[in-house]
Amino acid sequence: MFDNPIFCALDTTDLEVATALAHDLGGAVGGLKLGLEFFYRHGADGYRAIAQSGLPIFLDLKLHDIPNTVAGGLRAVLPLGPAIVNVHAAGGRAMLEAARRTVDEHDGHKPWLIGVTILTSLDDADLTEVGYSDATESQVERMAALCDDCGLDGVVCSPREIAGQRSSRSLGFRLIVPGIRPTDSAAGDQKRVMTPFDAVDTGADVIVVGRPITQAADPVAAAHAIARSLPEAA
Ligand code: C5P
Repeated sequence: MFDNPIFCALDTTDLEVATALAHDLGGAVGGLKLGLEFFYRHGADGYRAIAQSGLPIFLDLKLHDIPNTVAGGLRAVLPLGPAIVNVHAAGGRAMLEAARRTVDEHDGHKPWLIGVTILTSLDDADLTEVGYSDATESQVERMAALCDDCGLDGVVCSPREIAGQRSSRSLGFRLIVPGIRPTDSAAGDQKRVMTPFDAVDTGADVIVVGRPITQAADPVAAAHAIARSLPEAA
């Protein structure tokens, strides 16, 4: 577990901006999230520049391909030493198990291996269109159970799903939760939001916070304010 559950999403292609934020946020957040936008542009060198901050990194690449290719992708990034990596549950059992084996066989720091269930940008109509017949919540539960069965360490889920997952999974199953908004910040394009306090209080292990920190006039102060707002034991 991380002492501070706040992971700040550095969603930018600007290396200078990301490096400065990473440096400044040390002590205010528990970790940083680097995703497709940053990693496709700056790759391993960019990752290492951000890692100099000393903060744990969630490398959010959402891998989804045949088992052999996902395993190869993971083997390529594991030496960077991320704290958290993720794969799409929709890749299926063989892919999830290959990912599990690859992390287990890695001779070095073993990150949390997390499954992405249903993206929070999709609703029931979108699922029907791509051929899923279950409602979103049942589909999330089905995929989370599969991730659990394949030995993954947890899932990414929306605030709405924390309570359900906490009751159906074991305590050690990690819940990584984006869609976090302090009461005084704009929701932006996030539809299902929750405050940092409520998300952690309901059972999130990590809360992913992007714009409420990165777009604040004073990102460090914003991060500290979120940290202060969390339940005592967090
Ligand atoms: O700026 P904001 O706090 O909305 O950023 C949330 C971060 O979490 C973004 O990097 C976004 O890509 C990510 N994320 C999300 N919903 C998911 C998975 C990831 O918002 N289901």
